[in-house]
Amino acid sequence: GVRLGSMLSETGLVTLDPGFVNTGACRSGITYIDGDAGILRYRGYPIEQLAERSTFVEVGYLLIYGELPTRQQLGRFAEQIHRHTLLHEDLKHFFDGFPADAHPMPVLSSAVSALSTFYQNSLDPFDEPNVDLSSVRLMAKVPTIAAYAYKKSIGQPMLYPDNSLGLVENFLRLTFGLPAETYEVDPEMARTLDMLFILHADHEQNCSTSTVRMVGSAQANLFASVSAGINALFGPLHGGANAAVLEMLESIRDDHGNADGFVAKVKDQKPGVRLMGFGHRVYKNYDPRAAIVRDAAGGIIDKLGGGDELLDIARRLEELALGDDYFIERKLYPNVDFYTGLIYKAMGFPTEMFTVLFAIGRLPGWIAHWREMIDDPDTRIARPRQVYTGPAQRDFVAIGER
Ligand code: ACO
Repeated sequence: GVRLGSMLSETGLVTLDPGFVNTGACRSGITYIDGDAGILRYRGYPIEQLAERSTFVEVGYLLIYGELPTRQQLGRFAEQIHRHTLLHEDLKHFFDGFPADAHPMPVLSSAVSALSTFYQNSLDPFDEPNVDLSSVRLMAKVPTIAAYAYKKSIGQPMLYPDNSLGLVENFLRLTFGLPAETYEVDPEMARTLDMLFILHADHEQNCSTSTVRMVGSAQANLFASVSAGINALFGPLHGGANAAVLEMLESIRDDHGNADGFVAKVKDQKPGVRLMGFGHRVYKNYDPRAAIVRDAAGGIIDKLGGGDELLDIARRLEELALGDDYFIERKLYPNVDFYTGLIYKAMGFPTEMFTVLFAIGRLPGWIAHWREMIDDPDTRIARPRQVYTGPAQRDFVAIGER
């Protein structure tokens, strides 16, 4: 149900719109979504074409700079990213301060926040050459930080990046490689991960991107704003959903694979029981990203092994939900993260890393939105109003008389 309310203020009528369901906060030329038709385009290019024909680095350039790069522009962008993959040695010590079992998402957001302390030329949001540099630093260093957070959690040494490798290959090696061993990147695994990063690269005013814009509207720098976005993404209703899906599938497997029983429980609408990976604020027909991931899942899981039983449960859940009035009436369809967790698991990532992978993918979107917001002459500090429901004026009562 929609909760309505409004109030007259000194600036006019204030409408109450919890969750900003019908409130636009900005103009944006980055991503187009038609939720009814299941359309998603970055800078005008359909997601299906980008997923099939582009690369994550190229899509990053497209989102941030607005046009597909020429060969030379792409080469330069990729080269700059290569040159910034190393972390400052002092930043590496940062990881020692966290408990070994720390979740990698808060480790990632803390390390990204700390980039402002190492690169103080990032502090002026209107200094364009340095904004370019900070953008490249984020693209280059976030995968390194993510891999180090993982290495720390399993007690293995951190490798130095190998800059003869591309962004995704480098990340896979930093995550799964060991010092004395050569790590052979599986090209099909790298291509699939690259494609999943493309699918996650932007999604207009979602919770984390709105957070980046909101923090940035106070003219906080790119690192501080993206760090805030990472924290928003940590929530289970947003980026945390990919991990929650896998936990749900495992709990169904442990309950003798009883998918029907689980769907019945979801329909009882007990607080906190949802079919994770289903539903979307904007897509009310289907999520075009989910269709691409579903097609990719079978092949890569067959190849890498180790997720067949959970994949069967996921397919059964999807089949049950798509034929059930509860889900049909509420227009609930699989979203992008219904199948991604299964693929990440088959690749060897532990569940805690799933949302970190989402963060790496979403990075170019956050950067592009922050830059668009800073450049937009209409930007004002984000400051929503409220409809006050507290007490009217009353007089203070001394503590002895309460
Ligand atoms: N399972 C069961 N019921 C659901 C689900 C679900 N996954 N999602 C929504 N519903 C129901 C709600 O209970 C509500 O029912 P009601 O009208 O009888 O009260 C109705 O559908 C509308 O749901 P809202 O929560 O109002 O929809 P909203 O747009 O606010 O939420 C959201 C969207 C957060 C994605 C929601 O569908 C959800 O919680 N899904 C599960 C978590 C998830 O997969 N999140 C990932 C989102 S995509 C992303 O970040 C990549």
